[in-house]
Amino acid sequence: MLDQVVKTIQNSTSAAVLTGAGISAESGVPTFRGQQGLWKKFRPEQLATMEAFLADQVVVWEWYNWRRQLISETRPNPGHFALRDLAELFNDFTLITQNVDNLHRLAGSVRVLELHGNIYRNKCADCDRQVAGQLEIVPDSLPICPACGGRIRPDVVWFGEMLPSDVIEEAYRVAERAEVFFSIGTSALVHPAASLPLIAKRRGATLIEINPERTPLSDYADFTFLANSGEILPELVSRLRAVSERKVRR
Ligand code: OAD
Repeated sequence: MLDQVVKTIQNSTSAAVLTGAGISAESGVPTFRGQQGLWKKFRPEQLATMEAFLADQVVVWEWYNWRRQLISETRPNPGHFALRDLAELFNDFTLITQNVDNLHRLAGSVRVLELHGNIYRNKCADCDRQVAGQLEIVPDSLPICPACGGRIRPDVVWFGEMLPSDVIEEAYRVAERAEVFFSIGTSALVHPAASLPLIAKRRGATLIEINPERTPLSDYADFTFLANSGEILPELVSRLRAVSERKVRR
């Protein structure tokens, strides 16, 4: 099937990718759903909501400190690096991620739209200003916003919150113009992110899914690889690169 994909997309100039927690699974970052998923062990409404933060900032900060520590010990895997390289094969390429783990940037990807924020950033819960630097959060001495004195929180999207409007609007534009759209390592259950592949497909894009398990998107995908992204992506990039080098030589 890889060769068929290469044949189908080799002349496309614009591509977009949506990634979810699965792309980082091979780096050791836990996914949200599934047997080993985070939401099996923790209840989202107790940790990832504004209500939870207002009720008990210390508990929420302890959870984010734990996740920051866990994530800071991980490194990008071959799937992340392959996506960095994939960007070079298209004139117009955007990587849209639901992940907050920063691993795409660490791998060297440049044009990254972070739909759900970034776990290393903090912002003010009251005036929404980003707070520079990676604040060390000590739960018994919580920092306050230098501008308004408000409470500092992680700059990630919590349940019940809107996505940053500039980022999601740009993601819609990207999905609308993509000739090829990859959905990788996402259960495709959380909207609006999950609608992006369908928007692209409706506009005529070739939709390619990579996920060891089927998702609600699988029925709409032109190609579905039931496999780990760290295994398929490097192979796909290497075959696409070979084709593009042959074209240059001609
Ligand atoms: P999920 O945990 O819902 O789904 C992860 C997906 O990755 C599953 O479909 C797995 O089958 C797949 N997967 C596991 N290992 C993989 C591998 N090696 N290669 C490829 N795929 C693999 O995570 P998301 O879809 O990212 O939102 O979840 C979406 C959002 O739900 C998250 O961003 C988070 C959560 O609530 C917020 O926190 C706002």
